[in-house]
Amino acid sequence: MSGFGELEGGGFQDESWVAVIHKMEEVYSDLIRYEVDLEGKNAALEEAQSFIDSVLSSMSDAFIVCDLDGRIEQVNAAAARLVGRRRADLVGLPLKDLLIDASGKLLARLDGPVADGECGPDQPECEVRLNGPDGPTDALAMNCSDRLDRAGRRVGLVLIGRPVGELRRAYQALNLAHADLKRAQMQLVQAEKMASLGRLVAGVAHELNNPISFVYGNIHALDRYRGRLAAYLAAIHAGVDEREREALRRDLGIDALMADLSSLIEGTLEGAQRVGDIVKNLRRLTFAGGGEPERVDLAQMVATAVHWAERGHRQRADITLDLADGLWVRGHAGQLHQVVVNLVQNALDAVAETPRPRIAVSVGRAGGKVRLTIADNGPGIAADHLLKVFDPFFTTKPVGSGTGLGLWISYGIVRDHGGVIEVANGPEGGARFTVTLPAPEEEVG
Ligand SMILES: Nc1ncnc2c1ncn2[C@@H]1O[C@H](COP(=O)(O)OP(=O)(O)O)[C@@H](O)[C@H]1O
Ligand SMILES: [Mg+2]
Repeated sequence: MSGFGELEGGGFQDESWVAVIHKMEEVYSDLIRYEVDLEGKNAALEEAQSFIDSVLSSMSDAFIVCDLDGRIEQVNAAAARLVGRRRADLVGLPLKDLLIDASGKLLARLDGPVADGECGPDQPECEVRLNGPDGPTDALAMNCSDRLDRAGRRVGLVLIGRPVGELRRAYQALNLAHADLKRAQMQLVQAEKMASLGRLVAGVAHELNNPISFVYGNIHALDRYRGRLAAYLAAIHAGVDEREREALRRDLGIDALMADLSSLIEGTLEGAQRVGDIVKNLRRLTFAGGGEPERVDLAQMVATAVHWAERGHRQRADITLDLADGLWVRGHAGQLHQVVVNLVQNALDAVAETPRPRIAVSVGRAGGKVRLTIADNGPGIAADHLLKVFDPFFTTKPVGSGTGLGLWISYGIVRDHGGVIEVANGPEGGARFTVTLPAPEEEVG
């Protein structure tokens, strides 16, 4: 390295040359370091650039960035495709060359925030069309926001647009899915209604069986009596003598028959009357809902519902009714009936394993309202289930025995009647359901 020094000769120059050469070496190695540094940064920059590029080109929304003079700085592939030009050709062009329709509002954004509802910060969506290769493109829902520099100054706009048609299609698909769901839900509700109707019909069938069977029995007895009376009359018409007639009267049991006749007829009438009453009650149950709300006598409605629910259920229990008279609500008897049937059936299900099963049903006033409670001495409801029992499909019963819709439907019916249905565990265990309904004003003392 001392080659220069030797050529020139002289110790002092040698030393200064050495210093210069050292300096040069330092500068040279600095340079190399800078270069390596620079290459690293360049690579990072290129990576960042290609990352941004890949994100931009994978966006299906059109993306346009412009400066405050309205010159395009960046577009993505989707935007370039929409207007049918190359990305590079678009950079530097005035934004307004691309826009038609609402361009006025959009371009006003370059001068600062615009009034609400016009593609401003509070309502960024506005609809614009772009100048496409074959005339105006489909409308785009355009989202427009300010681009800020590091110091927070506005330096341009960022526009993101999505073809409205696509949004509409997505919306339509969503709507269809929603309608499907609603249909499925209605079918399920219908299925639960049919199931509870089925249970009800079982109850009614039991109920009808009793009077019908004794009407049958009575009619058979009457038929036998008719035969005996006919034989007796035939003998009289044939003019038999008194002795023979008396013998016949005794043998045919005519006196006992006559004494029995009126109670037979009364009993038959009473049976027919009971069948008539049951049918009348059934008629009142309009399960379809709808119709004008009517005056519903609570005690009567609850009594029939409890009775039928009990008849339609395999499980027996000691059911006590404490029903205040003269209380009524405005609503749909059939629907309220369904609520009571559901609650009693649940209570009967609940006491299946209880040694001395009991269910207490009561109707009374509570402040300005009327209150119905149904309490059982079953196992009650687990604390973490208390909030869930009204959810659709919540059931703890085995598949096939529970749909988990009974309480959900009851909840809806009570709500539609302006009331609330609540559940709690009783102080001595067992579940207690309370239905509170508004009482018509003139009824509240
Ligand atoms: N009286 C009750 N005692 C204990 N649990 C009850 C009672 N009533 C309702 N439940 C609980 O609430 C759940 C939901 O009831 P419900 O909506 O009528 O549907 P399902 O009777 O078909 O199961 C039942 O599965 C049961 O776990
Ligand atoms: Mg149920």
